[in-house]
Amino acid sequence: MNAFQFSTVPHLIAEAGSAARLGELVAERFPAARRALIVTDAGFLGTGLLTGPIASLQQQGITVDVYADVVADPPEAVVLAAVQHAKDLKTDIVLGIGGGSSMDVAKLIAVLAATDQPIASAYGIGNVKGARLPLVQVPTTAGTGSEVTNIAIVTTGETTKMGVVAPQLYADIAILDATLTLGLPPLVTAATGIDAMVHAIEAYTSRHKKNPISDLLAKQALAMLSQNLVNACQQGDDIAARQAMLVGACLAGQAFSNAPVAAVHALAYPIGGIFHVPHGLSNSLVLPHVLRFNLSHAADHYAELADIVVTGVTGSAEARGMGLIAAMQQIAEVTGIATRLAQVGIAERDLDRLADDAMKQTRLLGNNPREVTREHARAIYAAAL
Ligand SMILES: NC(=O)c1ccc[n+]([C@@H]2O[C@H](COP(=O)([O-])OP(=O)(O)OC[C@H]3O[C@@H](n4cnc5c(N)ncnc54)[C@H](O)[C@@H]3O)[C@@H](O)[C@H]2O)c1
Ligand SMILES: [Fe+2]
Repeated sequence: MNAFQFSTVPHLIAEAGSAARLGELVAERFPAARRALIVTDAGFLGTGLLTGPIASLQQQGITVDVYADVVADPPEAVVLAAVQHAKDLKTDIVLGIGGGSSMDVAKLIAVLAATDQPIASAYGIGNVKGARLPLVQVPTTAGTGSEVTNIAIVTTGETTKMGVVAPQLYADIAILDATLTLGLPPLVTAATGIDAMVHAIEAYTSRHKKNPISDLLAKQALAMLSQNLVNACQQGDDIAARQAMLVGACLAGQAFSNAPVAAVHALAYPIGGIFHVPHGLSNSLVLPHVLRFNLSHAADHYAELADIVVTGVTGSAEARGMGLIAAMQQIAEVTGIATRLAQVGIAERDLDRLADDAMKQTRLLGNNPREVTREHARAIYAAAL
């Protein structure tokens, strides 16, 4: 076993309906908070689901501002505008309420509004300087696990994604309330849920930082996600399935925050960056093809995960590993999301550019169980076409 470290958020509340008590939950831990900034996007704001949480904060004497200009795969300019907004308002606590995009922006506001550090010097691992503002995260998709990870992803330039990875990005409180996710459309539920499953699978085979705690979390995450994903898509108002999805995604987030993701994410990023395909769907499109490529180097681990995701797979580790791949493909098909790159507008002529971009994700590729060359990456995209 490798020597390892494990970090996560200090306080987690998993209770359907708990966001209605957001004010109390915040005041308990941060009695001095007076001016909260809720960070979200127009889509979630439009659901009207912020009304209850805002009222509960106001009841505690907290002034609430809402920043709803987050967009998917947030560009750097959006982050910088949000940070300036928080500085102007003299925000003293940041609440991310939304999907991964909103929570990632909330993290960066919390660290960058508290100091004069320029964002350019924060990219990479461990480069954030100083303390941050208090930070509470409330996911409204069951996907990224960003509420419990120490990473924020920013779209820099036209298409490239960069990460800020630092201990300050762990929130003070994460709140998992399925009532906020009941209206998430089926295709978004599917794509974000598969993203969470990919976090668990890639954490379990992470090359350098695989560790027993992440393993435990990844397995439990996969059990909860695989048992509830189709239900959550087909019966969006199934609160038990929705809460299980949120907890599963959160466990997977804790797993990969300490045993990082790898080639599935590395190959997914260019698809999102160049073609604006949502993060979860980008992952899902390349997933079976990356797993098949990895099988020769990860069969035992995939076989262990197959036993959790699908019943009745027997035989060699390779055969059971193939069972995991087939089960993941079946989940994508049942939910009706796109399964081929061609369905999202990608053609043969795009594969070289995708492969070139994927090779820039060295941080992620280094975690993959099998070394990925540029030719491999291109072949994987070709298989996914
Ligand atoms: N920090 C991390 O650990 C981490 C991990 C994986 C991905 N990410 C990043 O997270 C982002 C993706 O996040 P995401 O997949 O959660 O999507 P998202 O935050 O971009 O949201 C997707 C869409 O769902 C809508 N939505 C969200 N909640 C809703 C609800 N309850 N009801 C109705 N609509 C709702 C939003 O308005 C948006 O249109 C990407 O930028 C990705 O790079 C971060
Ligand atoms: Fe992801």
